[in-house]
Amino acid sequence: MKEKIESYKQELEELKADTLDAIEAFRIKFLGSKGLVKELYADLKSVANEEKREFGQLINEFRTNAEAKYNELKDSLSASDGGSDPKVDLTRPGTKFPQGARHPISLVRKEIIEIFSRIGFTVSQGPEIEDDWHNFSALNFPPEHPARDMQDTFFVEKGDNEMALRTHTSSVQVRVMENSTPPIRTISPGRVFRNEAISARAHCIFHQVEGLYIDEKVSFADLKQTLLYFAKEMFGDKTEIRLRPSYFPFTEPSAEVDVSCNICGGKGCNVCKYTGYLEILGCGMVDPNVLEAAGIDSKKYSGFAFGMGIERIAMLKYQVKDLRLFFENDVRFLNQFKSAY
Ligand code: PHE
Repeated sequence: MKEKIESYKQELEELKADTLDAIEAFRIKFLGSKGLVKELYADLKSVANEEKREFGQLINEFRTNAEAKYNELKDSLSASDGGSDPKVDLTRPGTKFPQGARHPISLVRKEIIEIFSRIGFTVSQGPEIEDDWHNFSALNFPPEHPARDMQDTFFVEKGDNEMALRTHTSSVQVRVMENSTPPIRTISPGRVFRNEAISARAHCIFHQVEGLYIDEKVSFADLKQTLLYFAKEMFGDKTEIRLRPSYFPFTEPSAEVDVSCNICGGKGCNVCKYTGYLEILGCGMVDPNVLEAAGIDSKKYSGFAFGMGIERIAMLKYQVKDLRLFFENDVRFLNQFKSAY
């Protein structure tokens, strides 16, 4: 018994522990519920009565030493580095969170907004579920007008109180015209919905930015120059635009706008199908009926409007061949836009 205590004592003296784990292992080994101190007290039971006193003292002493050593080790560790594990090298760079990327649609929307805000356009927003008036009637789509079919509408509620998912953000512009007086210079970015089969070029949900400019003496030349400025800012200084006559119920005259192909510079390639041009938006002079429907004097004021799909612009800008990629959120696709921010 004496030897056992001696050897434990020796072990205690020689023991070194300089990490939290090692100190805890030490505590368990010496002072734990199945530790050496406990073991010695158990052994004491089998010691002859006349020796109990002597051994008892030795064990008590051993226990006190072990406890003192434990406290000492703990204190020295917390004094040296605030109690953390010294195996941790605080000078090493930490684990970083992987950097995310902005969605290309957000990037392009932001860029479009920035371009137009530089020439005084504000941003306006409106509801995604619209009534017939704001999505159609106020925009000069009479009931039964075939142009309503062009829009492939998702109806939410049929009948007297007809509600639908907006098919364009022109509806927001009606709200702006109703609630303010010219001059009006605003763009309305937002989600729109059309009942179309999903393909590489079409989706039932997509994003638009539509613009509206109303003031005295606004002319088609103002429209053309505004769009030329936009095209150059968006696709580069060499970009040219081309306007082709078109039809929209809410504008007269109306046009579709192409930009010179930013890939081949107008020489012809498979992206522009060897035409040298890519279609980017629809536009026109706001029809006087639309102004009047929103309570604006069409004799005093005139204006232009335009509308574009953000996906379409993003596809051209980043050469994305399939529109569905924007909705699948595959990180391998999205990570490619890290540097675009
Ligand atoms: N609202 C039209 C659409 O979604 C786009 C457009 C807006 C065309 C303004 C002309 C003027 O198709």
